[in-house]
Amino acid sequence: MTFGPSTPKPSPDQLTAHGAEHDHGPYEAVFTGAARAELDELLTRYPNKMAALLPALWIVQRERGWVSDDAMAEVADVLALTPAYVKGVVTFYTMYHQHPVGRYFIQVCTTTPCHVCGAEGVVDAFLQHTGCGELGVTSADGRFTVIEVECLGACGFATPVMINEQFLESVTPARVPEILAALT
Ligand code: FES
Repeated sequence: MTFGPSTPKPSPDQLTAHGAEHDHGPYEAVFTGAARAELDELLTRYPNKMAALLPALWIVQRERGWVSDDAMAEVADVLALTPAYVKGVVTFYTMYHQHPVGRYFIQVCTTTPCHVCGAEGVVDAFLQHTGCGELGVTSADGRFTVIEVECLGACGFATPVMINEQFLESVTPARVPEILAALT
């Protein structure tokens, strides 16, 4: 299964940590203090508020680790957009998390060129060695979430993998344990 823009994402229930509850307490606004100042500075670089939507969502995800419905509503409010518009953007891009994910978010390309070069074996190795067991499920220790994604633009270096902001090329199942061991 691939979680790309053209395919449905799993439901939040499929994507939370093992046994995790969905009670995150009262919502606390992101855009206060330094984050608000950062957004205000950001807005000076764009012709209108809507144009700052993607970086505003990055701020949310950096601050909270994911983009909740409440956060989408806050972003809509500060950028004078509708919550539906913001949700449409968040749900289009796989890089925005609509649920809590592991500290290390592992994206493995399994589009056809990588698939024929053995990407499924890389996925299986990550699922096994992280303890996630299934795609989109966060490991019990909260460290890892593994998903499959569409082409990462490195088709000649199968299998490419992204772990947070780190881009790895030519990953094989045999390399997976050493890659995970190098993560702090
Ligand atoms: S098909 Fe995997 S990077 Fe392009």
